[in-house]
Amino acid sequence: MRRWPWAAAVTILAVGVAQLRTKRPLPYAGKPCTASGCRPSFLIIGIGKCGTSSLYYYLAAHPSVIQARRKQIQFFDHAYDASRMERSYLSQFPASLKEGEVTGEASPGYAQYSQVPGRVARHLHGVRILVIARDPAERAHSSYHYNYVGSARVPLPFEMLVGAEIQFLEAFFRDGTSRKCGDKVCRDLSNDCYGAKSAESQAGAVARRYAGEQARKRFKGEAADTAAKAARRTAVAMSLPRLNAHLWRQLVGRGLYISNLDWWYAALPEEDMLLVCSEDLNDLQKAASEMGRVASFIGLSQFDFGAAVARGKYNAGAQHRGYGAVTSWTDAASLAEKRPAISTEARQHIDNFTAPFNERLFSRAGHRCRWGRDRV
Ligand SMILES: *[C@@H]1O[C@H](CO)[C@@H](O)[C@H](O)[C@H]1NC(C)=O
Repeated sequence: MRRWPWAAAVTILAVGVAQLRTKRPLPYAGKPCTASGCRPSFLIIGIGKCGTSSLYYYLAAHPSVIQARRKQIQFFDHAYDASRMERSYLSQFPASLKEGEVTGEASPGYAQYSQVPGRVARHLHGVRILVIARDPAERAHSSYHYNYVGSARVPLPFEMLVGAEIQFLEAFFRDGTSRKCGDKVCRDLSNDCYGAKSAESQAGAVARRYAGEQARKRFKGEAADTAAKAARRTAVAMSLPRLNAHLWRQLVGRGLYISNLDWWYAALPEEDMLLVCSEDLNDLQKAASEMGRVASFIGLSQFDFGAAVARGKYNAGAQHRGYGAVTSWTDAASLAEKRPAISTEARQHIDNFTAPFNERLFSRAGHRCRWGRDRV
């Protein structure tokens, strides 16, 4: 019995060495193209505001990766139609590929919808799935600035939106079997739960209170009750913009990665799913070796991603200048410095709420990210 651990260790070591030597076979046994077209060998399924653009464009620097017509095709979520697979989807990829070449796409919306993994499993059997995920507090704060502040004329403070959303989410997850949004039972946060109604009840109450205070301050001393009321209504409307509502309503919800990835793990083989921590790509010293891990997961030959990474980060600015717009590491660092910091309270609130979800993700993926209390 006492000798067993040694034997096991030797076996694990031998398997490890063998894995280092033998390259993982490419998806579709290295033949992604059929008479219908060339299928993607990798899909980056999310998560938005976590670095999908950098992951995609770094990967595209590999000589065997041939890009699709555009980075985000978003076919399997909203545009899905099985009969249009060839015409709408495969037509977006190169018409032919040389031996050993692969193509792929990055649609950050895929991860959130429970019907997507089944569709992917059906049409792209064996495709490798990449998920890049970021510290939930950082992601929420980034999404707040990128998707909300610009479009809300009277932006609610980050802490308020987060507080209201966590209250909503706590109620949602309280009873695991019959998750409810109002009267509706649902299982899918993105599909069912962040509809117009719940957004109104989630952020609406906060907006009314806050916008009301703002309006009262502005009309202080004025007896004109009607004017104050009208101002309040306007302030509420300007706090809850329709633009990107599905994104700013889910500042915290979109960071509960495992609650969506559960469906992916159920529909696809575990060995075809890879978790990348944003923080590892967001680090000039680590990014190239992390990209090496990504390349070997797909089955690509070894490649030095150093030069591709050194160019900078993609789609990193506060304004949307295109997914392929590159920002130098120095500029990205000074942009990050200029951004207002997250308050300790909001950060802790998000850390506390997301910690059990994070732990479940790490154990499912067999890979840890340094988030929350592990943040460095
Ligand atoms: C978060 O959890 C810590 C430790 O349990 C606690 O001290 C703190 O008050 C919590 N903070 C918030 C904002 O929930």
